[in-house]
Amino acid sequence: MKKTLILLLFIASFSACKQAPTKPKVDESKRGLIVDNAMVVSARAEASKIGTEILKKGGNAFDAMMATELALAVAYPSAGNIGGGGFMVYRDKDGNIGGIDYREKAPLAATKDMYLDEEGNVIPGKSTLGAMAVGIPGTVAGVFAVHEKFGTLPIKEILEPVVALARKGVVVTKKQEARLKRFQEPFAKANKDSILFMKNWKENDTIKYPALAETMQRIMENGRDEFYKGETAKRLVKFMQDNGGIMTEEDLAKYEAKWRTPVTFEYDGLKIISMSPPSSGGICLAQIMKMVEPYDLHEYGHNTLKSIQVITEAERRAYADRSYYLGDPDFVNVPGDDLIADDYLKDRMSSFSFEKATKSSDVSHGKVQVVESNETTHYSIVDKFGNAIAVTTTINATYGSKLYCSDLGFFLNNEMDDFSSKPGVPNMFGLIGAEANSIAPEKRMLSSMTPTIVEKDGKLLMSVGTPGGSTIITSVLQTVLNVHEYNMTMQQAVNAPRFHHQWLPDVILFEPNSFERATLDSLQQLGYQINEDRAPVIGKVDGILVLDNGKLEGGADKRGDDTAIGY
Ligand code: GLY
Repeated sequence: MKKTLILLLFIASFSACKQAPTKPKVDESKRGLIVDNAMVVSARAEASKIGTEILKKGGNAFDAMMATELALAVAYPSAGNIGGGGFMVYRDKDGNIGGIDYREKAPLAATKDMYLDEEGNVIPGKSTLGAMAVGIPGTVAGVFAVHEKFGTLPIKEILEPVVALARKGVVVTKKQEARLKRFQEPFAKANKDSILFMKNWKENDTIKYPALAETMQRIMENGRDEFYKGETAKRLVKFMQDNGGIMTEEDLAKYEAKWRTPVTFEYDGLKIISMSPPSSGGICLAQIMKMVEPYDLHEYGHNTLKSIQVITEAERRAYADRSYYLGDPDFVNVPGDDLIADDYLKDRMSSFSFEKATKSSDVSHGKVQVVESNETTHYSIVDKFGNAIAVTTTINATYGSKLYCSDLGFFLNNEMDDFSSKPGVPNMFGLIGAEANSIAPEKRMLSSMTPTIVEKDGKLLMSVGTPGGSTIITSVLQTVLNVHEYNMTMQQAVNAPRFHHQWLPDVILFEPNSFERATLDSLQQLGYQINEDRAPVIGKVDGILVLDNGKLEGGADKRGDDTAIGY
């Protein structure tokens, strides 16, 4: 009897061990910047510094959001903007959560078939280059709405350093020099005259932005309506129409940012808070995480065959749903709760087997060649009060539509390409859309932006997000898993090599030279198509992790000029 009991106890403890194998220990030597109070992590040091200065002055994360967003518009013109839009998710010091959508809208004169020729074929370049690609910008409305609801410092105090930065200028980095070189041809194509960025800028040169400084100064003095109803609005509309665009003063006057309830879900004891439609980010992230949750990822190990298989198969299924169901919730019925229901996702994953790749479809979309990896930008902020924000903002492609308004000093987005111009035809990210994301006047185009906040045991754990078009969702996913499943530091988690699958095209993208050859070979043997050439960089993740001792660790992605600053 006693022997049997001991045996039973032994078996019980053995199987408990099997179910919960220990995770690797955190390598404390691999931490990013650690600070005691508050932090900003963004794509440029100048923006992180301006945001941090606002925090040091006693401003909160929302004041710093306005400062950082507008400083990125100066210091990081390839993605930071006032000619685009974005999303913010927040968790305040008391644990209240929310989100704001300042996504661009289709102009009033937009039509469903505006990018199709007489035969019904998509006209190449029309939704990506020049004035016809531009959606009505939301950024200025967004930052003012955030400030109105939560801000504590006067607008002047927040914007003065931004105006000063634009006047003083910003030093060109090595990566920026290379980026500017790559875009000379589209700049020349999209603009009637030569623009500021068509000089032969070199690393360490300083680019001054006097026109943008003037625009920012007027916004500082006259408020958000300067952009939507004032002199700036009039000059912008004239510029757009002179360049063959359809934006009107009415379009700008009607623009409003919208407060949205974020998507929330549980993952292995974490509470994930992410952006709701018109971003697909939160729903897609929820689908993928809930589909992978039953699998012992930490037991399989980071970027091992089994981990990659499980994650890829969940991604495949989530992106297939994205393309069919998701769009602007003010125009279409998005079955959000159904899409993230446990039974539904269990059923979706039931066809997965470790023995063989699932096939996405027989439809070939092999013509999609380009993944622009640097578009869009993300920043995370945590203040000393405990407020946290995650913000992703964009003009879509790198330098947006490439159309630069020299008079006002900023690039215009090409966000209209995020609509589905024609069902079944991929956009520049290779994403396929359906009726839910078709074009209509004043509709917001579907996004992949995934600003995300993570809670553990009812407390703030992480703020995270990234640029990367369709790869945004899968990059955020891997970063959260890297911290939670593989016990990486924030800095390790953002630096770790990434892969991506989006249903169609049916191929896994890998950052080159970062994965074991044997793993890639095994994937191919199982029927997966792999590609290491198309995406040299997948995402540029920035995040902040709250450590057990309450300090903050910044993760600033080594793939860009991203920088964590705090105090
Ligand atoms: N323009 C990229 C996105 O919103 O997903």
